[in-house]
Amino acid sequence: MNKKFLDLGLQPLANRYLTIKEKKMNLKEEFYHLLVNFNTKTKLISLSKKVEIKKMFNSSYPYKSSMSKTMLKSFRILSEKIKKKFNPKMFLEIGSNDGALIKNFNNKKVIGIEPCKNLAKITRSKGYKTYCDYWNLKLANKIKKKYKKIDLIYSANTITHIEKLDEVFKSISHVLTKNGVIIIEDPSLLECIKKTSYDQFYNEHIYLFSALALKNILKKHNFEIFDITNLKTHGGSLRYFIKRKKNKNLSIKSNVKKQLKKEIDYGLGKFSTFRKFGESTLKSKKDLIRILNNIKKKNKRIIGYGATAKATTILNYCNIDNHLIEYFVDTTPDKKNKHMPGKKIKILSYDPKLIKNIDYIFLGAWNFKDEIFKKERLFIKNGGKFITHVPSPKIINK
Ligand code: TYD
Repeated sequence: MNKKFLDLGLQPLANRYLTIKEKKMNLKEEFYHLLVNFNTKTKLISLSKKVEIKKMFNSSYPYKSSMSKTMLKSFRILSEKIKKKFNPKMFLEIGSNDGALIKNFNNKKVIGIEPCKNLAKITRSKGYKTYCDYWNLKLANKIKKKYKKIDLIYSANTITHIEKLDEVFKSISHVLTKNGVIIIEDPSLLECIKKTSYDQFYNEHIYLFSALALKNILKKHNFEIFDITNLKTHGGSLRYFIKRKKNKNLSIKSNVKKQLKKEIDYGLGKFSTFRKFGESTLKSKKDLIRILNNIKKKNKRIIGYGATAKATTILNYCNIDNHLIEYFVDTTPDKKNKHMPGKKIKILSYDPKLIKNIDYIFLGAWNFKDEIFKKERLFIKNGGKFITHVPSPKIINK
C-alpha cells in the first residue's frame, strides 16, 4: 500500500527552464502536485503523480554530465574499474547523456541509449553508436537482434526516472548474457533522509532507491545485488552491482548485508521514519525562509549558484522569487539567460564578476560544494558567505 508522507505543493517541471521570450509572453507553465509516497510492502519511495516521459526527456533537455569535473572524474575512475574487473565484450549504457562515461571505452564495444536528441547527437559525434530512444521492451528486442553478447549494462541516474520499473528489468534481462552484470547508480534514499534533502524530489525522480527497495524489485526478475559502493555524487549515491541469481561465479560481498542493515536500523522500512522526514522538511523550509529574510532586511545581496533541478523544488516549495534571490549563476550553456521554472529567477552564465559584489550565495548545487568552494576561494576570502539547506539551513564559509 502507498502511504503519502510529503507534500511539496504545486511544482513546475524541474528542467523546463523558460527562455527570455517565454518569460516575456508570460507562458503558462505546467504545474503538478508533488506528493511523495512510501510503499509499506516493497519499501519503495515514489511520486504519486507521474509526468509523461516525453514531456521530461526531449531535445531541449539541458543537463549535461560532462559539465562537472567531479562527474567526469567519477566516470573515469569507474570505467577503469569496469575494464579491470569485468572486461566487458559489449557494454550498454542506459541514459548515456552526452557520452561522459562511454567515451572512456573502445567505440566498437559500446552502445549508448539516450532519448534526448541533443545529447544523443553529441555522443554520436564522438563516434559512438547511440540509440535515440527510451529504454523499453521494444528497444531491447531491436538491440537483442543485433547484439548477442551484451555482458555489462550500466545506468546512472536514469532507472529511477522510468515509471515502468518491471519493464526496465525485463528488458535488461532480455538483452543481458547469462553471466552478465548490471551496474546501477542513483541517489541514496538513506543520504537524502539523513540530510533532509527534500530537493531530491522532483518530477524526473519518480523513484528514490534504497538497497532495501531495489532488492525487492530485483527479486521478481531473478536478479540480486552482489556488491555496493557508496559514492559522493549527487549528495550521496549508491552504486549497485547486480547479477542473475543463477550466476554463482560472483559471490555476494558483505557490504550488501551491511548496507541493508544500515537502512533497516535507520528505519527505511518503516513509515514513521518518513513521517518524521516530512516534519523535518517543513522545519527546513521555515528556517531557510527566515535566514533569507533576515539577510534581506540588512539590505544584503543574495544570488544562487547552480540552477539545478533540485533548486526548482526548493524555490517553489519555499516560495522564493527574485525578491530574495536576485539571479542564479550556472556554467551550463543551455541554461544561459533562461529563467528558473515556476519562480522565474533569471539564470546568468557563470562569470566571476557576477559574484564579486555579492554578500551571500545560495548553494543550488550543494552536492558540488567542495568543487565550488575551491573555485570561489577569493569570494570566501573577501568575506563572502554561502547559504545551504543541507543538512539544515545555515550560513557557511567552509
Ligand atoms: P546537478 O546538481 O548535477 O543537477 P540537478 O539537481 O539539476 O540534477 O547540477 C549541477 C548544476 O550546477 C549544473 O547546472 C551545473 C552547475 N554548476 C555550476 O554552475 N558551477 C559549478 O562549478 C558546478 C560544479 C556546477
